[in-house]
Amino acid sequence: MKPIYKDATQSPDIRVADLLSQMTLSEKVGQLCQSPMLEYGVHRDNYLNAVREGRLGSRILADTAWAGNAPGETVSPKQLNEIQRAAVEESRLGIPVIVARDVIYGQQTVLPIPLAQAASFNPAQIEKAYRCVAKEAASLGIHWTFAPMLDVVRDPRWGRVIESGGEDPLVLSEMAKAVVKGFQGDDMGNADTLVACAKHFVGYGASEGGRDYDTTEISENSLHNVYLPPFKAAVEAGVGTLMSGFNDLGGTPVSGSQALIKDWLKTQHGFDGMVVSDWGSISDLAYFGVAADAKGAAKRAIEAGVDMAMTNEAYEGHLEALIAEGALDQAVLDEAVSRVLLTKFRAGLFERPYVDEEAHLSVMRQASHLDEARTLAEQSMVLLKNDHLLPIKTTEQPMTIAVIGPHAHSQRQHLGSWCLDGKTEDVTSLYAGIQAYVEANEINVTVITEEAAFADEMVECAHRADLVIFCSGESHRRTGEARNVAELTLPAGQEAMIEAVAETGKPLVVVQCTGRPLPSPATERYANALLYAWQSGTETGHAAARLLFGAVSPSGKLPISVPRSTGQVPIYYARKPLGKMRDFQDYQPYKDQRDTPLYPFGFGLSYGAFDYQDLKLDRTTLQSDETLWVEVTLTNNGEQAATEVVQCYSRQHVASTTRPQRELRAFQRVHLAAGESRHVSLEIPAQQFAFFGAEKTVALESSEITVFVGGDSNASLNARFFLNA
Ligand code: NOJ
Repeated sequence: MKPIYKDATQSPDIRVADLLSQMTLSEKVGQLCQSPMLEYGVHRDNYLNAVREGRLGSRILADTAWAGNAPGETVSPKQLNEIQRAAVEESRLGIPVIVARDVIYGQQTVLPIPLAQAASFNPAQIEKAYRCVAKEAASLGIHWTFAPMLDVVRDPRWGRVIESGGEDPLVLSEMAKAVVKGFQGDDMGNADTLVACAKHFVGYGASEGGRDYDTTEISENSLHNVYLPPFKAAVEAGVGTLMSGFNDLGGTPVSGSQALIKDWLKTQHGFDGMVVSDWGSISDLAYFGVAADAKGAAKRAIEAGVDMAMTNEAYEGHLEALIAEGALDQAVLDEAVSRVLLTKFRAGLFERPYVDEEAHLSVMRQASHLDEARTLAEQSMVLLKNDHLLPIKTTEQPMTIAVIGPHAHSQRQHLGSWCLDGKTEDVTSLYAGIQAYVEANEINVTVITEEAAFADEMVECAHRADLVIFCSGESHRRTGEARNVAELTLPAGQEAMIEAVAETGKPLVVVQCTGRPLPSPATERYANALLYAWQSGTETGHAAARLLFGAVSPSGKLPISVPRSTGQVPIYYARKPLGKMRDFQDYQPYKDQRDTPLYPFGFGLSYGAFDYQDLKLDRTTLQSDETLWVEVTLTNNGEQAATEVVQCYSRQHVASTTRPQRELRAFQRVHLAAGESRHVSLEIPAQQFAFFGAEKTVALESSEITVFVGGDSNASLNARFFLNA
């Protein structure tokens, strides 16, 4: 008779209980162990034996902790099926292996880096694009991905800012929901989905000095009001798994924090999926000195609520010994195992352990996937400066455009650093995208370029053109994990190149391709227009060309402030009131620089000209169970149709703790034809004003609140209401 746990008509909880009751101690520990992808040819026999013996419950398709920087072997569906056969057909209980890979923002179709995606302020488009990525990855036999990364980042020196949605908890929360839904679909048991993993729980993005892996010091107030909300959103969206980070948070490394994992996440917020450690973050507990040795680290982590060890050595061996010695409660182990099994049942692995080895051939880079990626790239690029040079005005008269600079022909760089499987040759460079656009639209433009890296040859090329597009930026090699910069500047030499090209006197557009906000003094001084193209994936060139020629208006807005200099960091819009401002109104914090960012959070231009009028609130008092409707009339006074991201910020005037001067509460993309006006309504449920106050709980507090509406975080149109908690 078929065992209960193999009966798909039974509920996952019943199946878990039945399976757990039949497992040996060693099989249980095996389910908590995730092994790395060491050279398969060399380690195959040992590996398959371990799987047959039930000692490896999961496999991560990465051979180092820095998979983004060194992707290792490619994914082979045939190899994955071989491993699965050993698990399903040759192990005692037939528990399938769950296969993980860092599919962060693309498989073969590669989307913009998450920081760029956030600039789209378009969760619906993000979700659609991730659905395509999930389909591609699942077609290879990947079950589980380690995204979305939900670290709030307010110091862009940190290389991993590329993986984050930027500085704001609301933007990250909206991205959390979109990416989770995109990966997991309606049901993570379906064949074309991946189980998502919200990471890095929690605070890793606050590493001191922007130095990856450095210690983090976050006040309880900021932890609950800024860093935890995106994880709450992911849990509410049904994320299957979470990853505990590498960081020490105020004296307690998070991978050993019962208060955060067991209490906040699992008990208070009812997360019933599994928590996996980051690579080696369990063993790190001994390195940090909060456990005497590896065994002590294993005990501390599993008691804190870390269910699975990435990688296996952290739990292998030690957990059995701890149980045998009576040092670890059997119930703690059983709970971790149950969560891993539950995840496997939810992912449909018992019903569908194998992958069709040919499926991926027809799934990769489908036209619809490229369309979604291009649309997202278009919406992610941010126009920061434009003295009417853009969109490029073409006429019957012939025109010559020079496309030059370090990024004119780059390809791999646009895939960003956390892209394991995207192919360089699939990336459309800026030059190729512009050339293709001109050809396809039969525009009377000759595109010239200079492939040599010599500034004098670029200058020479610029001299021959009517308009210059200078493509500046950084390489993916100085962004991502363990790739931080001390100075927020363009790589060496580029400021001088921009200046030299500008000296030709030709109209100058700078397209900046960076994985972080980087101020460029030469661009500020000389460029007529600046388009932030970030690292925007396979469709970079096509997306940029459509924006430059005005086929579509730029609509991206900054999800992170652009500082004037490194010395301003951290700089973010949601600042608390400064002390002493009461009697020192003209105080300037710096003697040598203004206190404002170069470009504020939420800022971005379009080819329209938006005007906000008639701000109205639907009530003067908001009760705790009500919803506030904020209404405004938006008009496009420009000559071209364009999309605006309408943003609504709030300020609470009195509370038990200090509150930020502004907090983003709602946003909406609105497309208007030239001359069109529309009433825009933004919905804010009262509960969105809840925060972690002096009572040390998230609650509403009665106060007058000012609402600001506009096109960036400096919005001035405002109205007030009273929040009645
Ligand atoms: C370490 C990184 O911090 C994490 O984000 C990633 O998912 C794992 N390595 C696996 O590659």
